[in-house]
Amino acid sequence: MIKLDYKNVDKTFIGEENGLEIENVFNEFQYKIAEIISDLNKRKDKPGQWLQWMNLGYSEETLWFVKEYAAIVKNRFENVLVLGIGGSALGGMAMSEALLKPYWNILSEEERDNNPRIFFLDNIDPDQMCSLLNTLNLEKTLVNVITKSGTTAETMAQYMIVANLLQEKLGDDYRKNIVVTTDKEIGLLRQLANQEGYKNFVIPDDVGGRYSVFSAVGLLPLALVGIDIDEIINGVKDMDLALKNTDIRHNIAAQCALIHYIYNTRKNKNILVMMPYSSRLKYVADWFVQLWAESLGKNIDNDGNKINTGLTPIKSVGVTDQHSQIQLFNEGPNDKIINFIRIEEFENSLEIPKIFEYTGIGYLGGKAINQLFNAEADATKMALLDFSRPNITITLPKISGYYLGQLLYMLEVETAIAGALYNINAFDQPGVEQVKNYTYALMGRTGYEDSANNLRERLALT
Ligand code: PA5
Repeated sequence: MIKLDYKNVDKTFIGEENGLEIENVFNEFQYKIAEIISDLNKRKDKPGQWLQWMNLGYSEETLWFVKEYAAIVKNRFENVLVLGIGGSALGGMAMSEALLKPYWNILSEEERDNNPRIFFLDNIDPDQMCSLLNTLNLEKTLVNVITKSGTTAETMAQYMIVANLLQEKLGDDYRKNIVVTTDKEIGLLRQLANQEGYKNFVIPDDVGGRYSVFSAVGLLPLALVGIDIDEIINGVKDMDLALKNTDIRHNIAAQCALIHYIYNTRKNKNILVMMPYSSRLKYVADWFVQLWAESLGKNIDNDGNKINTGLTPIKSVGVTDQHSQIQLFNEGPNDKIINFIRIEEFENSLEIPKIFEYTGIGYLGGKAINQLFNAEADATKMALLDFSRPNITITLPKISGYYLGQLLYMLEVETAIAGALYNINAFDQPGVEQVKNYTYALMGRTGYEDSANNLRERLALT
């Protein structure tokens, strides 16, 4: 199992002002945490609770349908193009970047074991879109359109552009190049999928975008490029069993949630840094940032009190950002808690040759690059301690589907537990919806006329 080390929040290591008496904190919160975990598990099957993501690891049906379709289309496409944004894109991006060989899209077909390349278009930047669409051979591209609401303007605009291009090239056959992942009933994409007869996958009820990585939203793109999704789901299930433990001393999601909550509410930390020491996990940090920010940045609590809560998540990648953000983390405001992710064993090892021994860089020769990587991570941790900066470390034995399944599921449960500690709804996103609605209004969607007039008047003043 993945492990958590929270020694470096203890006041014996980082001092009274920024440290915790962690055993006392666990004692103080053990009943509350047990209550939260039992409550989540009790409510998870009830409609309207938005907790169906806790059951995704057990959906044999989804696994079966996804694998069946992936087998049918195998060898038919050179590329997979995912159209989606936010929770509809980040899970697939995080998992594929972690689990595929690095630089996948520029590897030869043989090196990719005849699996397609994969592209995620999670923005509508016109330059980026044009360049990608001009580069891909669309006739040989399977397009997976993903949207839970089936209405998001960015995804729908991308879909309209790509569907039109496909129609021009393939006529009626264009449908074979589109697979849709959306709600079973609601939304414009559902209507279109039914009308056009696209192959489609359902996002289950009560699964929000940012909690959907283990539904067809994340699993289908992964299966299409040959990733073993059973292995991922095995990791999810094993972690789910472990996290049913209501004893905080044996539940790493609860430990992480509580540590972050206490630092935010009692120790004036406002920033959570997610820092994997692995380039392959850089989108895992992006995925976590979205999960945490949209779930926990809330205006009001469950009792209607205005609280404007949230510990701002930011991404940092080791070792790269040692040469960028670490200066600020060490010497800037002591307002952060740093969450490292470390990998025990990398797939590869690379020896630094014993050359230039007579020069100042000779000390590196004969050592593995892995040793340097780990030394850098240890050096960062120690420097943070010198400056009394609290940090915790999650360790994965290696990068694999099994451990990634564990990690992402654990982070989802952590977020849900943190939501309960803050007494907020961690499963809605009114702040996001407001921007979506304003966009619909400004773009002339029917039903949004009053809002459009109001916005135009206000925009003229600013
Ligand atoms: O997590 C969320 O709910 C959001 O980030 C959504 O995933 C994002 O806004 C895209 O929405 P949709 O999947 O409805 O297109």
